[in-house]
Amino acid sequence: MSDIQATQTRLVDDIRAASDLDALEALRVAALGKAGSVTALLKSLGGMTPDERQEQGPLIHALREAVTAAIADRKAALDAAAIDIKLAAEAIDMSLPADTAPRGSVHPVSQVMDELAEIFADMGFAVATGPEIEDDWRNFTALNIPETHPARAMHDTFYFPEVGEGAAQRMLLRTHTSPVQIRTMMSEAPPIRIIAPGRVYRSDSDATHTPMFHQIEGLVIDKGITLGHLKWTLETFLKAYFERDDIVLRLRPSYFPFTEPSAEVDVGYKQEKGRRIVGGHGDDDGHAWMELLGSGMVNRRVIANCGLDPDEWQGFAFGVGVDRLAMLKYGMDDLRAFFDGDLRWLAHYGFGALSVPTLSGGISA
Ligand code: DAH
Repeated sequence: MSDIQATQTRLVDDIRAASDLDALEALRVAALGKAGSVTALLKSLGGMTPDERQEQGPLIHALREAVTAAIADRKAALDAAAIDIKLAAEAIDMSLPADTAPRGSVHPVSQVMDELAEIFADMGFAVATGPEIEDDWRNFTALNIPETHPARAMHDTFYFPEVGEGAAQRMLLRTHTSPVQIRTMMSEAPPIRIIAPGRVYRSDSDATHTPMFHQIEGLVIDKGITLGHLKWTLETFLKAYFERDDIVLRLRPSYFPFTEPSAEVDVGYKQEKGRRIVGGHGDDDGHAWMELLGSGMVNRRVIANCGLDPDEWQGFAFGVGVDRLAMLKYGMDDLRAFFDGDLRWLAHYGFGALSVPTLSGGISA
């Protein structure tokens, strides 16, 4: 082995044995620095005879390459080891409290809709939906609402501009969830048992009215359905919803174009610390009646408008304000705050995303 090869072996061994980055750097300077041993050998090439250079040149260049490569390898190894040491020293302390991530909450309207879906599912009702942009026929005409009905007036209903001449149907923002009754009766064969929750729109705005609000419609179409079924269903629903057994209903004769007979449903309540607490008989001491929802036996004309034979099929329907139900159960007093999107309000009145209402687990737990 030539001297140069011996030098190469020694230098590479030293480099591989370098214990840290400082030692490695010292070896690099000693070999490849300005006054380094390898640099000196490279310089010596200039003073050689052509024959010597031909012999020594390749060896010296190989030496420089081997040393350079060995330094790079060792540096990579030492860097990796340094990271391992650092990681070991900075091990995660699992006992430290974690940062709290901001968490959203379920809006009371969504919560109440989920509660109602759960309660009605237990009675065999499916959830039906319809579009918020509805046509005049399904929102009014098919529901036996006459041309002269006040709800049809411009100041109550948000109409879309009429497109083209003799447009088949004037479009509007549905003013109630009742058109879902029409959609369901026209698309499904009875027996029908549905609730239809959703947004509805009217030109109205004060502490208890917003231009957009929420309703749930109920519809049962079957054979031999009576007012008794309606009353039992509403009683069962309201007891489950308010989570108390002493709910007393009063069916008060009323008028809706789409039901005949129609009844306004009142519940007994008591005023406590500025809040209405639902429960008890409205005529009892300290109690009163409060109107809660509209209902009735589906008008024969509505059944016929949907292509069903009203002598064969009959049923009941009801419509109730979801926001109102939420306010009564959870004690909010201004409807407008529901739709302000104030995170403080949501943090206060909102519900945990994972606490899904179930009848067995407590409907609002
Ligand atoms: N659609 C009515 C409204 O928005 C509510 C209603 C009343 C719905 C009686 C019904 C019903 O299904 O039978 O004011």
